[in-house]
Amino acid sequence: MKIGIFGGTFNPPHIGHTRAAQESVKALGLDKLLVIPDAQPPHKALAEGSPDAGTRLELTRLAFAGVKRTHVSDMEIKRGGRSYTVDTLRRVRDKYPDAKLWLLMGTDMLMCFEEWRDFKAIMSMASLGVFARDGGEDEAIKSAAAELEKKYGATVRFIETEEIEASSTSIRQALPKREGREFLTDEVYGAIIKGRLYGARPEFEWLRRKAYAMLDPKRVAHVVGCEQEAVRLARRWGADEEKAREAGILHDITKKEKLDEQLRLCEKYGIILDEMERHEGKLLHSKTGAGIAKYEFGCDDEVYGAIYWHTTGKEDMGLLEKVIYMADYIEPNRDFEGVDELRRLAYEDLDRALEMGFRMSIDDMTSRGIVPHARTLGALRFITKGSEK
Ligand SMILES: [Fe+2]
Ligand SMILES: [Fe+2]
Repeated sequence: MKIGIFGGTFNPPHIGHTRAAQESVKALGLDKLLVIPDAQPPHKALAEGSPDAGTRLELTRLAFAGVKRTHVSDMEIKRGGRSYTVDTLRRVRDKYPDAKLWLLMGTDMLMCFEEWRDFKAIMSMASLGVFARDGGEDEAIKSAAAELEKKYGATVRFIETEEIEASSTSIRQALPKREGREFLTDEVYGAIIKGRLYGARPEFEWLRRKAYAMLDPKRVAHVVGCEQEAVRLARRWGADEEKAREAGILHDITKKEKLDEQLRLCEKYGIILDEMERHEGKLLHSKTGAGIAKYEFGCDDEVYGAIYWHTTGKEDMGLLEKVIYMADYIEPNRDFEGVDELRRLAYEDLDRALEMGFRMSIDDMTSRGIVPHARTLGALRFITKGSEK
Protein backbone atom coordinates (compact mmCIF):
# COMPACT_ATOMS: atom_id res chain seq x y z
CA MET A 1 0.00 0.00 0.00
CA LYS A 2 1.22 3.49 -0.88
CA ILE A 3 0.27 6.30 1.44
CA GLY A 4 0.87 9.98 0.84
CA ILE A 5 1.15 12.53 3.63
CA PHE A 6 0.16 16.06 2.81
CA GLY A 7 0.61 18.45 5.71
CA GLY A 8 0.17 22.17 5.87
CA THR A 9 -1.60 25.00 7.55
CA PHE A 10 -4.49 25.06 5.06
CA ASN A 11 -5.30 28.59 6.09
CA PRO A 12 -7.55 28.47 4.16
CA PRO A 13 -7.46 25.32 1.99
CA HIS A 14 -7.81 26.28 -1.68
CA ILE A 15 -8.00 24.69 -5.10
CA GLY A 16 -4.20 24.73 -5.39
CA HIS A 17 -4.16 22.26 -2.49
CA THR A 18 -6.89 20.01 -3.82
CA ARG A 19 -5.41 19.89 -7.33
CA ALA A 20 -1.98 19.09 -5.93
CA ALA A 21 -3.59 16.28 -3.94
CA GLN A 22 -5.30 14.89 -7.03
CA GLU A 23 -2.11 15.05 -9.05
CA SER A 24 -0.04 13.33 -6.40
CA VAL A 25 -2.54 10.49 -6.06
CA LYS A 26 -2.27 9.96 -9.80
CA ALA A 27 1.47 10.50 -10.24
CA LEU A 28 2.55 8.33 -7.32
CA GLY A 29 -0.25 5.78 -7.59
CA LEU A 30 -1.28 6.40 -4.00
CA ASP A 31 -3.87 4.18 -2.37
CA LYS A 32 -4.52 6.76 0.28
CA LEU A 33 -3.58 10.37 0.84
CA LEU A 34 -3.61 11.66 4.39
CA VAL A 35 -4.22 15.39 4.49
CA ILE A 36 -3.03 16.65 7.85
CA PRO A 37 -3.62 20.25 8.93
CA ASP A 38 -1.05 21.28 11.52
CA ALA A 39 -1.88 22.57 14.97
CA GLN A 40 0.88 25.15 14.83
CA PRO A 41 3.45 25.28 12.04
CA PRO A 42 7.01 24.64 13.30
CA HIS A 43 8.79 27.57 11.65
CA LYS A 44 6.29 30.41 11.53
CA ALA A 45 3.38 31.85 13.44
CA LEU A 46 -0.09 31.60 11.99
CA ALA A 47 -1.23 34.83 10.34
CA GLU A 48 -3.04 37.15 12.69
CA GLY A 49 -6.80 36.72 12.68
CA SER A 50 -6.58 33.09 11.55
CA PRO A 51 -9.41 30.83 12.65
CA ASP A 52 -8.72 28.27 15.37
CA ALA A 53 -7.32 24.85 14.53
CA GLY A 54 -10.70 23.14 14.76
CA THR A 55 -12.16 25.54 12.20
CA ARG A 56 -9.22 25.04 9.82
CA LEU A 57 -9.75 21.30 10.17
CA GLU A 58 -13.41 21.73 9.28
CA LEU A 59 -12.56 23.87 6.24
CA THR A 60 -9.99 21.30 5.15
CA ARG A 61 -12.58 18.53 5.42
CA LEU A 62 -14.96 20.55 3.26
CA ALA A 63 -12.24 21.28 0.69
CA PHE A 64 -11.13 17.67 0.28
CA ALA A 65 -14.56 16.06 0.59
CA GLY A 66 -14.74 15.45 -3.15
CA VAL A 67 -11.13 14.41 -3.73
CA LYS A 68 -10.75 10.68 -4.24
CA ARG A 69 -8.60 8.65 -1.89
CA THR A 70 -7.93 11.56 0.42
CA HIS A 71 -8.63 11.43 4.11
CA VAL A 72 -8.33 14.51 6.30
CA SER A 73 -6.73 13.61 9.60
CA ASP A 74 -6.93 15.51 12.87
CA MET A 75 -3.83 13.81 14.34
CA GLU A 76 -1.64 16.92 14.50
CA ILE A 77 -4.42 19.15 15.74
CA LYS A 78 -5.29 16.61 18.42
CA ARG A 79 -1.65 16.31 19.42
CA GLY A 80 -1.47 20.14 19.77
CA GLY A 81 1.66 22.26 20.10
CA ARG A 82 4.13 22.66 17.26
CA SER A 83 3.54 20.09 14.56
CA TYR A 84 6.75 18.33 13.61
CA THR A 85 6.58 16.13 10.55
CA VAL A 86 8.86 13.53 12.07
CA ASP A 87 6.36 12.86 14.89
CA THR A 88 3.53 12.59 12.42
CA LEU A 89 5.46 10.20 10.20
CA ARG A 90 6.24 7.94 13.16
CA ARG A 91 2.56 7.78 13.99
CA VAL A 92 1.62 6.94 10.42
CA ARG A 93 4.37 4.32 10.17
CA ASP A 94 3.22 2.69 13.42
CA LYS A 95 -0.31 2.54 12.12
CA TYR A 96 0.67 1.27 8.65
CA PRO A 97 3.97 -0.61 9.20
CA ASP A 98 3.99 -2.20 5.74
CA ALA A 99 3.03 0.83 3.70
CA LYS A 100 5.35 2.81 1.50
CA LEU A 101 5.11 6.41 2.63
CA TRP A 102 5.39 9.50 0.45
CA LEU A 103 5.82 12.85 2.12
CA LEU A 104 4.46 15.62 -0.10
CA MET A 105 5.83 19.14 -0.12
CA GLY A 106 6.42 22.24 -2.23
CA THR A 107 9.78 23.17 -3.68
CA ASP A 108 10.29 25.85 -1.03
CA MET A 109 10.18 23.16 1.63
CA LEU A 110 12.58 20.95 -0.28
CA MET A 111 15.10 23.78 -0.44
CA CYS A 112 15.26 24.07 3.33
CA PHE A 113 14.76 20.40 4.09
CA GLU A 114 18.00 20.05 6.01
CA GLU A 115 16.63 22.53 8.56
CA TRP A 116 13.69 20.29 9.41
CA ARG A 117 13.72 18.58 12.76
CA ASP A 118 15.19 15.05 12.42
CA PHE A 119 15.18 15.29 8.65
CA LYS A 120 17.32 12.17 8.33
CA ALA A 121 14.73 10.18 10.25
CA ILE A 122 12.06 11.62 7.95
CA MET A 123 13.95 10.44 4.88
CA SER A 124 14.44 7.00 6.36
CA MET A 125 10.68 6.63 6.78
CA ALA A 126 9.37 8.30 3.64
CA SER A 127 10.18 9.21 0.07
CA LEU A 128 9.73 12.83 -0.90
CA GLY A 129 7.10 13.87 -3.45
CA VAL A 130 7.76 17.43 -4.48
CA PHE A 131 5.18 19.60 -6.24
CA ALA A 132 6.90 21.50 -8.99
CA ARG A 133 5.27 23.68 -11.61
CA ASP A 134 7.79 22.78 -14.27
CA GLY A 135 8.30 19.21 -13.15
CA GLY A 136 11.57 20.00 -11.36
CA GLU A 137 13.42 21.56 -14.30
CA ASP A 138 14.72 24.45 -12.23
CA GLU A 139 18.48 23.94 -11.70
CA ALA A 140 18.59 24.99 -8.06
CA ILE A 141 15.74 22.68 -7.18
CA LYS A 142 17.16 19.81 -9.20
CA SER A 143 20.50 20.08 -7.50
CA ALA A 144 18.90 20.34 -4.04
CA ALA A 145 17.10 17.07 -4.74
CA ALA A 146 20.29 15.45 -6.07
CA GLU A 147 22.17 16.53 -2.94
CA LEU A 148 19.63 14.89 -0.65
CA GLU A 149 19.74 11.72 -2.70
CA LYS A 150 23.52 11.60 -2.75
CA LYS A 151 24.16 12.63 0.85
CA TYR A 152 21.41 10.74 2.60
CA GLY A 153 20.07 8.22 0.14
CA ALA A 154 16.74 10.05 -0.07
CA THR A 155 14.22 9.30 -2.79
CA VAL A 156 12.84 12.42 -4.45
CA ARG A 157 10.15 12.47 -7.12
CA PHE A 158 8.81 15.60 -8.76
CA ILE A 159 5.09 15.85 -9.30
CA GLU A 160 4.11 18.20 -12.03
CA THR A 161 1.34 20.52 -10.92
CA GLU A 162 -0.73 23.03 -12.79
CA GLU A 163 0.10 26.63 -12.14
CA ILE A 164 -2.52 28.27 -9.95
CA GLU A 165 -2.29 31.91 -9.06
CA ALA A 166 -3.44 31.26 -5.55
CA SER A 167 -1.81 31.20 -2.21
CA SER A 168 -3.46 31.17 1.17
CA THR A 169 -1.85 34.52 1.89
CA SER A 170 -3.26 36.22 -1.20
CA ILE A 171 -6.68 34.67 -0.57
CA ARG A 172 -6.70 35.94 2.99
CA GLN A 173 -5.97 39.40 1.65
CA ALA A 174 -8.65 39.15 -1.03
CA LEU A 175 -11.54 37.92 1.13
CA PRO A 176 -12.27 41.17 3.00
CA LYS A 177 -12.41 42.90 -0.40
CA ARG A 178 -15.19 40.54 -1.54
CA GLU A 179 -12.69 38.72 -3.76
CA GLY A 180 -10.87 35.39 -3.85
CA ARG A 181 -13.89 33.14 -4.25
CA GLU A 182 -12.64 31.57 -7.48
CA PHE A 183 -9.79 29.89 -5.59
CA LEU A 184 -12.08 28.15 -3.12
CA THR A 185 -14.69 25.46 -3.44
CA ASP A 186 -18.25 26.66 -2.94
CA GLU A 187 -18.48 24.76 0.34
CA VAL A 188 -15.31 26.31 1.74
CA TYR A 189 -16.30 29.78 0.59
CA GLY A 190 -19.78 29.39 2.10
CA ALA A 191 -18.31 28.30 5.42
CA ILE A 192 -15.86 31.22 5.43
CA ILE A 193 -18.65 33.70 4.77
CA LYS A 194 -20.96 32.09 7.31
CA GLY A 195 -18.28 32.13 10.00
CA ARG A 196 -17.03 35.58 8.98
CA LEU A 197 -13.55 34.06 8.90
CA TYR A 198 -10.58 36.12 7.70
CA GLY A 199 -12.77 39.25 7.78
CA ALA A 200 -14.41 37.92 4.62
CA ARG A 201 -17.34 39.71 3.06
CA PRO A 202 -19.49 37.99 0.47
CA GLU A 203 -18.93 38.58 -3.21
CA PHE A 204 -22.11 40.15 -4.58
CA GLU A 205 -22.44 37.81 -7.56
CA TRP A 206 -22.24 34.81 -5.25
CA LEU A 207 -24.74 36.35 -2.85
CA ARG A 208 -27.17 37.00 -5.71
CA ARG A 209 -26.87 33.41 -6.91
CA LYS A 210 -27.60 32.11 -3.41
CA ALA A 211 -30.47 34.52 -2.84
CA TYR A 212 -32.19 34.00 -6.19
CA ALA A 213 -32.08 30.24 -5.70
CA MET A 214 -34.17 30.71 -2.57
CA LEU A 215 -36.81 32.85 -4.28
CA ASP A 216 -39.92 32.09 -6.21
CA PRO A 217 -38.62 32.89 -9.75
CA LYS A 218 -41.37 35.49 -10.13
CA ARG A 219 -39.85 37.50 -7.30
CA VAL A 220 -36.35 37.79 -8.77
CA ALA A 221 -37.14 40.92 -10.81
CA HIS A 222 -38.44 42.64 -7.69
CA VAL A 223 -35.29 41.76 -5.76
CA VAL A 224 -33.04 42.97 -8.59
CA GLY A 225 -35.02 46.23 -8.64
CA CYS A 226 -34.86 46.56 -4.89
CA GLU A 227 -31.08 46.15 -4.87
CA GLN A 228 -30.67 48.87 -7.50
CA GLU A 229 -33.09 51.22 -5.79
CA ALA A 230 -31.45 50.63 -2.41
CA VAL A 231 -28.03 51.55 -3.81
CA ARG A 232 -29.42 54.71 -5.41
CA LEU A 233 -31.14 55.75 -2.21
CA ALA A 234 -28.05 54.95 -0.16
CA ARG A 235 -25.98 57.15 -2.44
CA ARG A 236 -28.54 59.96 -2.22
CA TRP A 237 -28.77 59.89 1.57
CA GLY A 238 -25.23 58.88 2.50
CA ALA A 239 -25.92 55.34 3.70
CA ASP A 240 -23.38 52.54 3.13
CA GLU A 241 -23.93 51.44 -0.48
CA GLU A 242 -22.45 47.97 -0.01
CA LYS A 243 -24.65 47.25 2.98
CA ALA A 244 -27.66 48.56 1.06
CA ARG A 245 -26.76 46.14 -1.72
CA GLU A 246 -26.47 43.20 0.69
CA ALA A 247 -29.79 44.03 2.32
CA GLY A 248 -31.50 44.56 -1.05
CA ILE A 249 -30.29 41.22 -2.39
CA LEU A 250 -31.27 39.29 0.74
CA HIS A 251 -34.37 41.06 2.03
CA ASP A 252 -36.95 38.60 0.69
CA ILE A 253 -35.02 35.28 0.78
CA THR A 254 -37.59 33.52 2.95
CA LYS A 255 -40.64 35.05 1.35
CA LYS A 256 -41.85 31.79 -0.19
CA GLU A 257 -41.61 29.77 3.04
CA LYS A 258 -44.83 28.68 4.71
CA LEU A 259 -45.76 29.52 8.29
CA ASP A 260 -44.39 26.30 9.85
CA GLU A 261 -40.99 26.82 8.20
CA GLN A 262 -41.02 30.48 9.22
CA LEU A 263 -41.67 29.46 12.81
CA ARG A 264 -38.90 26.87 12.68
CA LEU A 265 -36.45 29.53 11.46
CA CYS A 266 -37.56 31.94 14.20
CA GLU A 267 -36.81 29.25 16.74
CA LYS A 268 -33.44 28.55 15.15
CA TYR A 269 -32.32 32.18 15.14
CA GLY A 270 -33.84 33.10 18.49
CA ILE A 271 -36.41 35.50 17.07
CA ILE A 272 -39.11 36.43 19.55
CA LEU A 273 -42.57 36.92 18.10
CA ASP A 274 -45.65 38.80 19.14
CA GLU A 275 -49.13 37.29 19.01
CA MET A 276 -49.95 38.64 15.57
CA GLU A 277 -46.72 37.37 14.04
CA ARG A 278 -47.21 33.86 15.36
CA HIS A 279 -50.12 33.44 12.98
CA GLU A 280 -49.11 35.53 10.00
CA GLY A 281 -46.33 34.09 7.86
CA LYS A 282 -46.13 37.18 5.65
CA LEU A 283 -44.88 39.30 8.53
CA LEU A 284 -42.25 36.76 9.46
CA HIS A 285 -40.23 36.67 6.26
CA SER A 286 -38.43 39.89 7.15
CA LYS A 287 -37.32 38.47 10.48
CA THR A 288 -36.31 35.04 9.26
CA GLY A 289 -34.63 36.62 6.22
CA ALA A 290 -32.63 38.81 8.58
CA GLY A 291 -31.67 35.71 10.59
CA ILE A 292 -30.37 33.91 7.52
CA ALA A 293 -28.57 37.04 6.29
CA LYS A 294 -26.76 37.35 9.59
CA TYR A 295 -26.08 33.75 10.52
CA GLU A 296 -25.60 32.13 7.10
CA PHE A 297 -24.31 34.99 4.96
CA GLY A 298 -22.25 36.86 7.55
CA CYS A 299 -24.14 40.17 7.34
CA ASP A 300 -23.64 42.66 10.16
CA ASP A 301 -26.22 44.04 12.57
CA GLU A 302 -27.03 47.04 10.43
CA VAL A 303 -27.97 44.87 7.46
CA TYR A 304 -29.80 42.56 9.85
CA GLY A 305 -31.88 45.47 11.15
CA ALA A 306 -32.66 46.77 7.67
CA ILE A 307 -34.03 43.39 6.60
CA TYR A 308 -35.72 42.75 9.94
CA TRP A 309 -37.83 45.91 9.77
CA HIS A 310 -38.52 46.10 6.06
CA THR A 311 -42.13 44.91 6.29
CA THR A 312 -43.59 46.72 9.27
CA GLY A 313 -41.14 49.54 9.86
CA LYS A 314 -40.81 50.75 13.44
CA GLU A 315 -40.28 53.82 15.55
CA ASP A 316 -36.96 55.61 15.24
CA MET A 317 -35.56 53.78 12.24
CA GLY A 318 -31.88 53.97 11.31
CA LEU A 319 -30.77 55.30 7.92
CA LEU A 320 -30.19 51.91 6.29
CA GLU A 321 -33.53 50.67 7.66
CA LYS A 322 -35.26 53.62 6.04
CA VAL A 323 -33.43 53.08 2.76
CA ILE A 324 -34.43 49.42 2.50
CA TYR A 325 -38.01 50.04 3.57
CA MET A 326 -38.33 52.67 0.87
CA ALA A 327 -36.42 50.77 -1.82
CA ASP A 328 -38.75 47.81 -1.33
CA TYR A 329 -41.70 50.18 -1.74
CA ILE A 330 -40.66 52.10 -4.84
CA GLU A 331 -38.29 49.83 -6.82
CA PRO A 332 -38.86 50.15 -10.58
CA ASN A 333 -41.20 47.14 -10.86
CA ARG A 334 -43.70 48.57 -8.37
CA ASP A 335 -46.86 49.91 -9.93
CA PHE A 336 -49.63 51.37 -7.81
CA GLU A 337 -51.43 54.63 -7.48
CA GLY A 338 -49.20 57.26 -5.96
CA VAL A 339 -45.94 55.42 -6.62
CA ASP A 340 -44.53 58.25 -8.76
CA GLU A 341 -45.18 60.79 -6.04
CA LEU A 342 -43.61 58.45 -3.49
CA ARG A 343 -40.56 57.99 -5.74
CA ARG A 344 -40.11 61.71 -6.13
CA LEU A 345 -40.44 62.29 -2.41
CA ALA A 346 -37.99 59.49 -1.56
CA TYR A 347 -35.18 61.45 -3.19
CA GLU A 348 -36.35 64.81 -1.88
CA ASP A 349 -37.21 64.12 1.75
CA LEU A 350 -36.77 60.56 2.94
CA ASP A 351 -38.74 60.96 6.16
CA ARG A 352 -41.73 62.49 4.36
CA ALA A 353 -41.60 59.62 1.90
CA LEU A 354 -41.64 57.15 4.78
CA GLU A 355 -44.56 58.97 6.35
CA MET A 356 -46.45 58.71 3.08
CA GLY A 357 -45.45 55.05 2.73
CA PHE A 358 -46.61 54.10 6.22
CA ARG A 359 -49.88 55.92 5.64
CA MET A 360 -50.49 54.19 2.31
CA SER A 361 -49.70 50.82 3.87
CA ILE A 362 -52.07 51.35 6.75
CA ASP A 363 -54.86 52.64 4.48
CA ASP A 364 -54.37 49.77 2.08
CA MET A 365 -54.58 47.18 4.84
CA THR A 366 -57.54 48.79 6.50
CA SER A 367 -59.41 48.91 3.21
CA ARG A 368 -58.78 45.19 2.77
CA GLY A 369 -60.01 44.44 6.27
CA ILE A 370 -56.53 43.64 7.62
CA VAL A 371 -55.45 45.06 10.96
CA PRO A 372 -52.22 47.02 10.42
CA HIS A 373 -49.33 45.98 12.61
CA ALA A 374 -48.83 48.07 15.74
CA ARG A 375 -45.22 48.67 14.70
CA THR A 376 -46.35 50.39 11.51
CA LEU A 377 -48.78 52.58 13.45
CA GLY A 378 -45.95 53.40 15.85
CA ALA A 379 -43.61 54.12 12.95
CA LEU A 380 -46.13 56.55 11.45
CA ARG A 381 -46.72 58.31 14.77
CA PHE A 382 -43.01 58.65 15.35
CA ILE A 383 -42.17 60.07 11.96
CA THR A 384 -45.18 62.40 11.90
CA LYS A 385 -44.12 63.83 15.23
CA GLY A 386 -40.68 64.43 13.73
CA SER A 387 -42.19 66.52 10.94
CA GLU A 388 -44.21 68.65 13.37
CA LYS A 389 -41.16 69.71 15.35
FE1 LIG B 1 -40.48 41.61 1.84
FE1 LIG C 1 -39.48 42.90 -1.13
